[in-house]
Amino acid sequence: MVAMKDLVAFCKRKGFVFPSSDIYGGLNGFFDYGPLGTELKRNVKNLWWKNMVQDREDIVGLDSAVILHPNVWRASGHVDGFSDPMVDCKVTKARYRADQVFYAPISVAGKLLGYICVTDGEERDADIAKKTKALLKAHNCSQEKPDEIHLKPLTEAKPEEFALIPSPATDKPGDLTPPREFNLMFQTQVGAVASEAGIAYLRPETAQGIFINFKNVVDSTRVKLPFGIAQIGKAFRNEITPRNFTFRSREFEQMEIEYFLPADETLWPNLHQKWIEERYQWHLSIGLREEFLSFDVHEKKDLAHYAKACTDIMFRYPFGVQELEGIAVRGNFDLTQHQSCSGKPLEYFDETLKTKYLPYVIEPSVGVDRTVLALLVSAYDEDEVNGEKRVVLRLKPKLAPIKAAVFPLVKNKPELVEKARGLFSRLQKRWYTAYDETGAVGRRYRRMDEIGTPWCVTVDFDSLDNDTYTLRDRDTTQQTRLSEAELITFFEKELQ
Ligand code: GAP
Repeated sequence: MVAMKDLVAFCKRKGFVFPSSDIYGGLNGFFDYGPLGTELKRNVKNLWWKNMVQDREDIVGLDSAVILHPNVWRASGHVDGFSDPMVDCKVTKARYRADQVFYAPISVAGKLLGYICVTDGEERDADIAKKTKALLKAHNCSQEKPDEIHLKPLTEAKPEEFALIPSPATDKPGDLTPPREFNLMFQTQVGAVASEAGIAYLRPETAQGIFINFKNVVDSTRVKLPFGIAQIGKAFRNEITPRNFTFRSREFEQMEIEYFLPADETLWPNLHQKWIEERYQWHLSIGLREEFLSFDVHEKKDLAHYAKACTDIMFRYPFGVQELEGIAVRGNFDLTQHQSCSGKPLEYFDETLKTKYLPYVIEPSVGVDRTVLALLVSAYDEDEVNGEKRVVLRLKPKLAPIKAAVFPLVKNKPELVEKARGLFSRLQKRWYTAYDETGAVGRRYRRMDEIGTPWCVTVDFDSLDNDTYTLRDRDTTQQTRLSEAELITFFEKELQ
């Protein structure tokens, strides 16, 4: 698997993803997508929208505002409860999410020597070994074997333990502040005069925009339960420790569906399973590697009080197995809250049962940026062609930023250039196509392989005689001779 530092460097070098505000030193947790990243991201969103909305009869789309009435976030519980526990190192001022910091008592033959404390991440195991060794040495026990180490998140530390746990930055007990809740919503002001009354929030999820429009959609369309409302859009979270490139950022995009169904305990388990399977298959269909995908079925005790079930689709990123998509069954908590806080009836009239109720909802929610990152990890490959090393991005053609590149064999033969430019401009009308005449053809192939372009079309001297072109395949490097009509039929079939 590609190492994260290589992927980050590749993304910058090739124009997929840049650190945001790069020339000002960057802004932690924010990213800008470059020319190729923008295309890739757009292709992901378009495909999701096509598959989840346009190809189905039971899901409609929505595009709600980013800033909603602040009461939306009071009703949803975000104002009071959308927070992460935070601790600070008093000495270094480093800030941590308490559930991402781990501690363990270190003892030898049952005698406690002290505690170690490490942060989550690739270096965690190495850190545990290093800190344990240092503690043993400080107690003149270097030759002893420590008892089994049981690591726990800092959020589980008892108050009496807390004073003994060192800061992960200084390794000195007492240097950490006690955990306190930090609300992740970004605040802003609506209106010209800054006041308490003008406080508003950038949405931390797109989902609430869907719930508050539930009645509008039911009243303005012909949807009948079960049906879904889908939305793609930006979400903002003031993450305490944004990290792992775009995986945990402060501004990101979500693709969310709220799939409403009758409030019937017997119905949701089957539909939930169907959604889990459907979303898993979708991830496979866009080219995520099967061996990197898995599930995390949440235990009942870990669910929010209103949730009935939740399964995450997990992906093995270079920094570990992490959530890609959550598929939760949320009962009718959100609609109940909005109905009660707004005072507006939101019930659905069930014509079959001749009764009104607030439907249950299943919520498949996936991050665009995490999907793009998972695609890059799945597609990035290095191999050898004719004894020469190459980087190749094995993206599915549907997702590839550029679908085809047209080359004249050489650039100093006007008749070749003219023919190649003609072909290029006709293909460009249908698909995002590149034109390249610089350098040897082999080098031009490599440039296109590296950014995932599935096909290159070379215009050579035979093309002038018989109107055929060489089509070269990125993955197999095989070449075939095709006419323009055959090329177009081939692309149409492969890209449909
Ligand atoms: N409406 C439900 C919801 O927002 P979530 O698990 O908090 O649930 C859903 O977020 C998805 O959004 C996640 O599975 C992930 O793909 C993406 N996501 C969440 N926080 C993110 C962040 N800080 N950076 C990038 N993507 C994030």
